[in-house]
Amino acid sequence: MASQNSSATFGRFIAIEGGEGCGKSTQIKQIASRLAKHGIDAIITREPGGTDNAEAIRELLLSGGDSRWDSRAEALLFAAARGDHVRNLIKPALMRGQWVLCDRFLESSRAYQSGGSGLSDAMILQLHDIGSEGFLPDRVLILDLDEERANSRVSQRDGEARDRIGGRPKEFHCAVRAAFKHYAQQECERIKLINAAADIDAVTDTIMDNLQDMIDA
Ligand code: TYD
Repeated sequence: MASQNSSATFGRFIAIEGGEGCGKSTQIKQIASRLAKHGIDAIITREPGGTDNAEAIRELLLSGGDSRWDSRAEALLFAAARGDHVRNLIKPALMRGQWVLCDRFLESSRAYQSGGSGLSDAMILQLHDIGSEGFLPDRVLILDLDEERANSRVSQRDGEARDRIGGRPKEFHCAVRAAFKHYAQQECERIKLINAAADIDAVTDTIMDNLQDMIDA
């Protein structure tokens, strides 16, 4: 599926992805301020969430016990939240010429609901076709971090508190990480794997290198 935002008059849609504790929210803020230096107006949003409806679905998805939703209902809820977000926030911003930096998007559903939870990748893509008409980011940046460092960052940030999905066992999160890496290998032009173990500014430098062609366009 090719990028749909090829015209220079539209903003660019960038998804920042990765497992728990990989530093997405820090990097998103850094990217927005680096883009501003190039005169690019970028908004930051997140999934699940970003609109009132999608934030309401987020609450349903992330609270309660792990067995609250089975894997099919969970995937449907993520797809429904995403559809609302795409229609009511992401596309309008791109049409105004803004860039959109999104903390998680479709590749999270592919990695968590398929790689980690056993639905097929084709099923997740089908739900995305229904929910969001298959709308894709121009670029996906996957921040890759080993389990040990990721865990220690999550513990520093959240203590012992984990949400319904973040609290799943180590094996689940290893499968998620492997799935992310696989998607980057499969689609290396659009999906970039970024080593997130370096210091904060060095990771931002690498990310900006991976956006340079779109900044110059
Ligand atoms: P969040 O608090 O935003 O986690 P993080 O700071 O790690 O991004 O919670 C989002 C959780 O939802 C996280 O565990 C990943 C999960 N998730 C999915 O399972 N599928 C999805 O499609 C998305 C967007 C998130």
